[in-house]
Amino acid sequence: MNTQDAADRLQKGELVVFPTETVYGIGALASNDDAVQKIFEVKGRPQENPLILHIADRSQLDELVKEIPGGAVKLMDAFWPGPLTICFQKSDQVSDLVTAGLSSVCLRNPDHPLTHDLLSRVGSAVAAPSANISGRPSTTTFGHATAQLKEKGVHIIDGGNTVLGLESTVVDCTRTDIRILRPGVVSKDQLEKCLGFEVNEEHIEKITSPGQLLEHYAPQGKLHVIIGDATQRREWISKHATSQATLGVVGTHLEGQSISPYQVLCEKEDNLKIYAQNLYQFLNWCDETNATDIILELPALREHQLYSALLNRLNKASQGNILNLDQ
Ligand code: TXA
Ligand code: MG
Repeated sequence: MNTQDAADRLQKGELVVFPTETVYGIGALASNDDAVQKIFEVKGRPQENPLILHIADRSQLDELVKEIPGGAVKLMDAFWPGPLTICFQKSDQVSDLVTAGLSSVCLRNPDHPLTHDLLSRVGSAVAAPSANISGRPSTTTFGHATAQLKEKGVHIIDGGNTVLGLESTVVDCTRTDIRILRPGVVSKDQLEKCLGFEVNEEHIEKITSPGQLLEHYAPQGKLHVIIGDATQRREWISKHATSQATLGVVGTHLEGQSISPYQVLCEKEDNLKIYAQNLYQFLNWCDETNATDIILELPALREHQLYSALLNRLNKASQGNILNLDQ
């Protein structure tokens, strides 16, 4: 399907799945409530979980938001287009269906040539959550987006594998104290350097991003996450992993000698960029192969830019089933 055809379908109120630099998204024309409602139905997404709007260009902001705070301007200058979603006070033009009745709206300007072309051709905002069934792992390949959504009668654009592999960071700029609602590829440290002051991370006790409340990113099997240094993790795996387990490993130590099915998330211990790129591929592969017992390693690189986002996703994907060997 060419991009113009996809844009025409969106204009007509159909859903289109498209790649971005983070994960695949499932989009609908934001101004069409019937189309937006279809997203909730296709994903099985709770109606109270708001959608983010995708725009091709910053000039589209004006009609969607009430005001553009100074902090948001700095963040857009530094990180747009890119994996940063910013929450503003919404204008009357944004439907309550998109924002689940909230007075704020989240906006993102993706950094991907195909997405940019698509959004430009549509010419107005496209509401798009991640392209997965609600609760299941996000998708980062055409194959996995198709596997989850092919029965749903939506159009899926093949944009290959997404480069970042993790969803955008979501920041709330509706108040003077800017807060991270969802950690992502852009780290707390990068945000603080850009703004020149401290930002807070949302605590579980005072959730304001509805998506944080729900079970997320989870494969169908039971996921165990093992954090530690390479030696600690390997010792644990050789002692505890049964041959029935499916393994997600860092390094090539299992090559040629594992009787368990496994995938290598990254070869080098400190390459969390590649790890992040492969994470949802691994979790979707676990579902494809009907893995029931999954053990996934994570190097304890707490200072790494992506660590907080990875831990957030793995915490949810495993429902908190994380063993920290490094404490
Ligand atoms: O990288 C991404 O952000 C991907 C790609 C497709 O752009 N999209 C994505 O959308 O991850 P979704 O719907 O899976 O996650 C958006 C998150 C949800 O946790 C949702 O609750 C939160 O953003 N959110 C959306 N609008 C909000 C609002 N007005 N206030 C607070 N949180 C909001
Ligand atoms: Mg999602």
